[in-house]
Amino acid sequence: MNIAVVGTGYVGLVSGTCFADSGNDITCVDIDENKVKQLRDGEIPIYEPGLKTIFDRSIREGRLRFTTDLEEAVKDAEIIFLCLPTPPGADGQADLSAVLKVAGQLGKMITDYKVIVNKSTVPVGTADRVREAVAENTDAEFDVVSNPEFLREGAAVEDFMKPERVVIGTSSERAAELMTTLYEPFVRSGNPIIVMDERSSELTKYAANAMLATKITFMNEIANICEKVGANVDNIRRGIGTDSRIGKRFLFAGIGYGGSCFPKDVQAIHYTAGQNGYDFKILDSVMKVNEKQKVSIVKKMEDYYGTSDFSGKTFGIWGLSFKPETDDIREAPALYIAEELVERGAKLIAYDPEAIETFKKATTKEVLDNTTFVLNQQDALVDVDALVICTEWNEFRRPTIDRFQDHMKKAVIFDGRNLYDLNRAKKSNITYISVGRPSINV
Ligand code: UDX
Repeated sequence: MNIAVVGTGYVGLVSGTCFADSGNDITCVDIDENKVKQLRDGEIPIYEPGLKTIFDRSIREGRLRFTTDLEEAVKDAEIIFLCLPTPPGADGQADLSAVLKVAGQLGKMITDYKVIVNKSTVPVGTADRVREAVAENTDAEFDVVSNPEFLREGAAVEDFMKPERVVIGTSSERAAELMTTLYEPFVRSGNPIIVMDERSSELTKYAANAMLATKITFMNEIANICEKVGANVDNIRRGIGTDSRIGKRFLFAGIGYGGSCFPKDVQAIHYTAGQNGYDFKILDSVMKVNEKQKVSIVKKMEDYYGTSDFSGKTFGIWGLSFKPETDDIREAPALYIAEELVERGAKLIAYDPEAIETFKKATTKEVLDNTTFVLNQQDALVDVDALVICTEWNEFRRPTIDRFQDHMKKAVIFDGRNLYDLNRAKKSNITYISVGRPSINV
């Protein structure tokens, strides 16, 4: 199939590349000339495992092209994917100006039947607004489809290639058939392509992310109770996760959810509910609990040291990204924790395998002035008063105990991601304080 992908951000690039890999002809279009040049030169601006291999192959075999010319990109396309930014506007609701602007332009360009697909996460009712914006400028036939993406950063290629489900929101049979044909190669294992109306499809995306954020938050609250009553959240996770109605995944307590999707989407669906006269109470709590959870580790540090004055102390930080296998630091707990620690007078030595540069760009001047960034995990331990773990990168899971004791001023670990086994910690003389589990050697 001939497909145009408008917007070469995270979603556009992954979708375009993966569609090309299944044999389609893809033209990706972006207004950013530098980006298009970079992509034409074979450089990918994001870090995503597995993407480069299929990107290179699709370019080599001529199935993936990049241009700044929207008209050229959509001329022969049967399907046009809109993968444009929808940043939160002043009222917390997604800003649709980029999407609607392109919709208007498409109206002026299309002359034969096209399927125009919203792939960005957009508020309920956006398909209707896009339809109106296109229709204003054309008499040609077209359909607007909602097709939300459920990609996880760090596993986007895998998620795209083998989705657990594909959701297609359209009331047009013709569009549904084209979209189903496009996605069939990705669900050969029998996973469903679920066709529904546009509004339900738009809401499905928000409901999925809000449910997952709620699940994590629920476990974080269980962890907080565990700390009060002397129970262990690991045991509870195993105890309830085996109930298939609950499920094993997304039950890991920690220092809160972050990233570019959960915080934004929970806020957006809460807002949409409010706009429609419904008070979505559970999501209000989810947001409040998560804000507190992100810095809960700082409170534990204050309790341990018996003061909120950390001047004269240096802390090592392991992990800056909001989760492993990404350099994305949007809404990362590490951003908030670093600020709180520096505010209390601490100096920091920070390490992350991928996210140091993105962190530097996003953090405050105060944090930058008081932080040394290092290029390996061990250097973040040298002469520190304690180590604070913010992200569960794999390489943090098995450091030898000697490494901690040899380098640190005092072997104290505040672990926001529950990386270490409590029995092993007990056998060492490391002070180990984690989330929802008994503290060791305090
Ligand atoms: C998420 C959704 O999973 C994806 O379907 C959607 O399209 C975009 O948002 P992503 O933001 O990449 O993807 O991250 P994900 O792996 O889902 O993790 C989100 C956050 O939850 C992270 O901060 C992670 O650390 C946290 N988390 C996850 C927990 O705290 N505990 C868990 O058990 C799982």
